[in-house]
Amino acid sequence: MPPKTHYFTSEPFDPATARQIEVVLAGRALAATTASGVFSPSRIDLGTAVLLRTLARRDPRSDLPRRGLAVDVGSGWGPLALTMALLAPAVRVAAVDTNQAARELTALNAERLGLDNIAVMTPAEARSLTRIDALWSNPPIRIGKDALHDLLGNWLERLAPDGHADLVVQRNLGADSLQTWLVALGYPTERLASAKGYRVLRAAPRAG
Ligand SMILES: C[S@@+](CC[C@H](N)C(=O)[O-])C[C@H]1O[C@@H](n2cnc3c(N)ncnc32)[C@H](O)[C@@H]1O
Repeated sequence: MPPKTHYFTSEPFDPATARQIEVVLAGRALAATTASGVFSPSRIDLGTAVLLRTLARRDPRSDLPRRGLAVDVGSGWGPLALTMALLAPAVRVAAVDTNQAARELTALNAERLGLDNIAVMTPAEARSLTRIDALWSNPPIRIGKDALHDLLGNWLERLAPDGHADLVVQRNLGADSLQTWLVALGYPTERLASAKGYRVLRAAPRAG
């Protein structure tokens, strides 16, 4: 039986547990709303921070395209999707999560920041998304290896020819074997960074 955590529940967020946290996203100090029942409600998760820092150090726009489609797979309360939308206002950002509270919080945070380029979706609603230019994810490792492989395989086949996927995974939760698996599946995958026990992996589309 999988552990009963936010990964496996889908309830509206409970306003009684809502809180404001101070965060820095896209170089801006902001207030974000989080609540119980979503991933890392008290701060930006360390792995997410490593991903954001790695991409920001490479490029002021974190290698996002000027236009097109960007997807955050597993948005939680929205740190990655909000960053994409702030950095790339002309890009359509899809924030996808199975968890209803996470989707509601991402939508609330986008609205409060005046971001009109984020669409929040369930995985079923996101099925029609194709030609993804940039995919960012701190993926739900704890769903198990087979489910994670299904999830990532399904998303990566939808990358645009010039697109890429940036993933952050804890080293001791299988980052290196995930990289090996992605390469074996035909997705050229490089390690962009290794910091604080996390690997940042960049996967490119399959050739042909
Ligand atoms: C490690 S958390 C990252 C959350 C957020 N991106 C962050 O950095 O704080 C992974 C997220 O994936 C979501 N998730 C689990 N299974 C999923 C699936 N099949 N499709 C999309 N999201 C999923 C979880 O609900 C959780 O919010």
